[in-house]
Amino acid sequence: MISLEKASHPLKGDVFVPGDKSISHRSIMFGALAEGTTEITGFLESADCLSTIDCFRKLGIIIDHSMRPTNGVPTITVHGKGLHGLTDTSSTLYTGNSGTTTRLMTGILAAQPFDSAITGDNSIEKRPMNRIIKPLTQMGADVSSMMGNGCAPLIIKGRRKLHGINYRNPVASAQVKSCILLAGLYADGDTVVYEPALSRNHSEIMLQSFGADIHNEIARDGSAAAILHPGMPLHGMKINVPGDISSAAYFIAAALMVPGSELLIRNVGINKTRCGILTVLKQMGADITLQNVNESGEPRADIFVKYSELHGNQNNRFEIGGKDIPTMIDELPMVAVLAATANFDTIIKDAAELKVKESDRIATVVDNLTAMGCDIEATDDGMIIHGGKPLHGTDINTHNDHRLAMSFAIASLAAEGTTRILDDACVNISYPSFFTDLQRLL
Ligand code: S3P
Repeated sequence: MISLEKASHPLKGDVFVPGDKSISHRSIMFGALAEGTTEITGFLESADCLSTIDCFRKLGIIIDHSMRPTNGVPTITVHGKGLHGLTDTSSTLYTGNSGTTTRLMTGILAAQPFDSAITGDNSIEKRPMNRIIKPLTQMGADVSSMMGNGCAPLIIKGRRKLHGINYRNPVASAQVKSCILLAGLYADGDTVVYEPALSRNHSEIMLQSFGADIHNEIARDGSAAAILHPGMPLHGMKINVPGDISSAAYFIAAALMVPGSELLIRNVGINKTRCGILTVLKQMGADITLQNVNESGEPRADIFVKYSELHGNQNNRFEIGGKDIPTMIDELPMVAVLAATANFDTIIKDAAELKVKESDRIATVVDNLTAMGCDIEATDDGMIIHGGKPLHGTDINTHNDHRLAMSFAIASLAAEGTTRILDDACVNISYPSFFTDLQRLL
């Protein structure tokens, strides 16, 4: 449990957030499937990414952790064995709290010449897996839910011949897309995944750098395709992971909540498929500027945020929905908290996916904000936040959801009295040093 008080002064200074979680997972996975070594710097050493490392170690991949002798930079080295180098493991692979590990690994395991089983913690065992079982089955894989409830544990029978498919995913999901593409690396024909809007495309960018023949095509209406021609071997490479914009989001919001604040958040990934929070907050009047932009590979920049009074559009309201949602899906709990402190109504819609994250983030955000005194309603696909009512500190039940713990830690900065984050250790999932980094600014 951690207790926090209302901010007593503006937040000022530089912040370094840890490496991007999505990119860190992929660097281990693709490094394992590549020939030769992959050296990763900026890797996020959080529980989720360590679950990915653990799974690949069980599958026979050597992964070392060292300091670069030249500059002392922590480096992860993955000794890849190529697409066909994984070895049979007798134990069930355990993915902890990580949906990305569970879904992407299943795509890889579906193509192996051995049987396997995969599961995770209580939250993982409630999350929907039919969304990957269905396309993998169409490819010729044999993946089933052990309990028959469409959730993990998943049982994967190996030795299947996989075929390329054209798959139209009704929701924009990078986990589903990446799972299919990873199985597609082993298929006998092209795989195309269509989505209503482009979900985060870290897999496509990184697989291309590793040597795969893969690219995105975006139609005029914003719908997107990821197109993979299999057959190219992957080659080990050097990867420098940028800071995670999902972690930066907490400090961006903090600066916009505490009058007089100015924060410079350094070296953050600004891939367009992840930057919805910047676009939307700027439309609300936030003073956010990018410095030192580097566009090569995964783009990155320093983000400078100055406290600004936010405003709605017409009728003192602001609507967030449609194609912006996939580009800021993990930041919506933080945006909801920020919206509670603004003097207008915010409507979040088209975000039913929030219900199937680490917790049901519509219910858990609405319950905790209500407990803090906010006027907020849950809807079928989002929430309506009537901002401007004063917030007060209370006990926050995070349901072991890391993004809830961090969003409500930031809420405390604008709340009268004491806010207690009851199960604060869950920040280890994506940002182990979060509370230390926050305390430094208080
Ligand atoms: C992720 C994709 C998103 C996101 C998750 C990480 C990824 O999930 O919410 O935190 O690394 O591919 P969905 O694919 O379910 O939208």
